[in-house]
Amino acid sequence: MASKARLPVSKILGMGHYLPSRILTNFDFEKMVDTSDQWIVERTGIRERHIAAPEEAASDLAAEAGRRALADADLDPKELDLIVVCTVTPDQPLPATAMFVQRVIGARSDCPAFDLVAACAGFIYGLSVADSFIRTEQARCVLVVGVEMLSRIIDYEDRSTSVLFGDGAGAAVVGPASGDGSGLVSTHIYADGAMAEALYIPAGGSRLPASEQTVEERLHYVRMTGQDVFKFAVKRLSSATKTAISSNGLSVRDIDWVIPHQANLRIIDAVSQRSGIPRDRFYINIERVGNTSSASIPIALDEAVKAGTIEEGQNVIFCALGGGITWGSALVRW
Ligand code: ACO
Repeated sequence: MASKARLPVSKILGMGHYLPSRILTNFDFEKMVDTSDQWIVERTGIRERHIAAPEEAASDLAAEAGRRALADADLDPKELDLIVVCTVTPDQPLPATAMFVQRVIGARSDCPAFDLVAACAGFIYGLSVADSFIRTEQARCVLVVGVEMLSRIIDYEDRSTSVLFGDGAGAAVVGPASGDGSGLVSTHIYADGAMAEALYIPAGGSRLPASEQTVEERLHYVRMTGQDVFKFAVKRLSSATKTAISSNGLSVRDIDWVIPHQANLRIIDAVSQRSGIPRDRFYINIERVGNTSSASIPIALDEAVKAGTIEEGQNVIFCALGGGITWGSALVRW
């Protein structure tokens, strides 16, 4: 599905992110499972990841990132018309994590708020929703948060998944574009349910409710067929990136930065090769944060903007793929 307009209708007005203070390094993993710093760095590019404290929940991380984004946009939380929290690690099954975020940040008590489940593509899905609400004048100001506490759903006895993921939150305040050409130029979102079991959690829902047996069999943890996801990611991220360029009448030379979902450095290298966008135009922070799923793009984007890496007027592509399988891309003129 595509939403595009040569003159953007919506724009990111402010960004914020939050990473828990505790850091788990590859050397820590060497003491937990049969792995090595060398294997993890060579196969993934990851050196360390942040892990939330036991007393923290996803909404705590999301609210902090949201507050920082609102401060960056110089907006009062009461000005929000919608809150979208993109996560696969909600505080609890009911209610939506967005409810707690609404309450904690001090948004209006009637501000609509919901969770969006699109795994690592969550932030791009969230931007697409925000853009649509603004475009149809149902909202003027939307808070989109990508937040994950993957440490809570990872099997720390499974070396093939545990080393990949970290916790964190990133947020964007999306509002009306100013008419100078800057803003959200297009979003393209996709899903393929045929790949549902390539990355999933078997138990804990209506199909297989929690029981002593499901816990014993460790069915509440993430299961992933890594190589299938890897191949699919390379193919789909490359095509979504190319679509973001071609559908807007641009060429590779017009792209200043790509903020890719930070899942695996080798996936990013392959997307660079296949899309023809030079590798030095990809912003990378995977070595410090690992894969933070839906939080990955807003964390990287906020870092890049605050560091002055991304400058006004530049064309920036976001691309992500995650469990579902879901994927997508967005083009922003900063
Ligand atoms: N340390 C040491 N060895 C390991 C580790 C580890 N942490 N993990 C796996 N291995 C072993 C395997 O057991 C296997 O051993 P074997 O040959 O004796 O059976 C060997 O390494 C090779 O395993 P592969 O799965 O072929 O390793 P690969 O190079 O494919 O890397 C990885 C695995 C990193 C998981 C890769 O497939 C990958 O990144 N896939 C995509 C994952 C991804 O991006 N997921 C998230 C996207 S969606 C989202 O973000 C929610």
